[in-house]
Amino acid sequence: MIANSQIAQIAEQFSTPCWAYDAKVIRAQIARLRQFDVIRFAQKASSNVHLLRLMREEGVLVDSVSVGEVERALVAGYVPDDAAQHAPIVFTADLLDKTALQRVVELNIPVNCGSPQMLQQLGEAHPGHPVWLRINPGFGHGHSRKTNTGGEQSKHGIWFEHLAQSLAIIDQYSLKLIGLHMHIGSGVDYDHLQSVCDAMIAQVKSCAHDLSAISIGGGLSIPYQDGEDVVDTDHYFQIWNSARQEIEAFLGHKISMEIEPGRFLMAQSGCLISELRAQKQVGNNFFALVDAGFNDLARPAMYGSYHRISTYAPDGTPRSSAPHPTVVAGPLCESGDVFTQIEGGEVTSQNLPSCEIGDLFVFHDTGAYGASMSSNYNSRPLIPEVLVDGETITQIRRRQTVQELIALEL
Ligand code: LLP
Repeated sequence: MIANSQIAQIAEQFSTPCWAYDAKVIRAQIARLRQFDVIRFAQKASSNVHLLRLMREEGVLVDSVSVGEVERALVAGYVPDDAAQHAPIVFTADLLDKTALQRVVELNIPVNCGSPQMLQQLGEAHPGHPVWLRINPGFGHGHSRKTNTGGEQSKHGIWFEHLAQSLAIIDQYSLKLIGLHMHIGSGVDYDHLQSVCDAMIAQVKSCAHDLSAISIGGGLSIPYQDGEDVVDTDHYFQIWNSARQEIEAFLGHKISMEIEPGRFLMAQSGCLISELRAQKQVGNNFFALVDAGFNDLARPAMYGSYHRISTYAPDGTPRSSAPHPTVVAGPLCESGDVFTQIEGGEVTSQNLPSCEIGDLFVFHDTGAYGASMSSNYNSRPLIPEVLVDGETITQIRRRQTVQELIALEL
């Protein structure tokens, strides 16, 4: 946990709004998944190169979904290696744009293919390229409809009935099949877990190709609200390990099992530090307006996601007067710029103590899909990122300037 005094120090030194991450929390989350043969970080959750470097130093491999994410992985020191037992970088997507196609071929990065056309285009460009098959098992699950990546309403993955067609393309171009992959959405629930395992076993059995690995995707959730469950990672491993054993018995040899989390590794490590700039009563609603907007933290506006908020005096002393319902909103010229809202946009509140202008409002559990989903909406520059490791506070991204933002147009 980043100490209150460090929050105050970061606000003072780097100004607000600002992202902060706790390296110790990231390492602790990694440790909880060590049972898996490969932990592959879904870097879309938080793709700062310094965070990727930390992951690499901890032995975590990486997934990239764009050329930008491939370049980030390279800068962080991941080196594509054909001889490695587990590829340091995998590229996962449902299509290959031309630049991505060129880059993955140049680097010989295994591609986790989500459509038959991807296999076709890859095969034509580079016969023999290493591939995974991302399978949509016909059902999915997510914390929001927008994060459900399985079933008929999802564009993701190769539809489970099209496995044979995909294997035919693999054979046509002698693509090297590494394994099957399933990620049915963000926000695991155990009801679906056994069904995903069963679907994976069924797909492997109908594959008629040898495999050296399976990837069970990511999706592990974290407790955003008090009272929400903490994922039992041992239980999770055991369920998947039984499936793996059945697959190994079928194939007649050992396989490796990859897990591909984003949120689980990063969310709880991070917070967004903002400053209270205005307060007003609007009818029955009391609004606290802070200097961060949904261009910074998009999750509440996008999914109605809940992020716990703490309030501090500028010196880091927690505010502690009797809490009252507070709608927390940002500076953007848009009514949806509210951090306390539910999916669909209805404004709600959090019970917060009385605060003064200049106080710090800290949004918790924003280490995943926080900075990585930020935009320049309203011509607001990207904000700094800071990594805390014990007593050491390091700026890992400086604040973008308005001039840099405009420069692309000049
Ligand atoms: N693997 C694949 C193929 C994925 O598409 C994703 C997430 C992950 C792994 C990692 O999922 P995680 O472990 O982080 O749940 N912006 C949303 C989440 C979108 C997730 C997209 N894919 C949010 O803020 O909740």
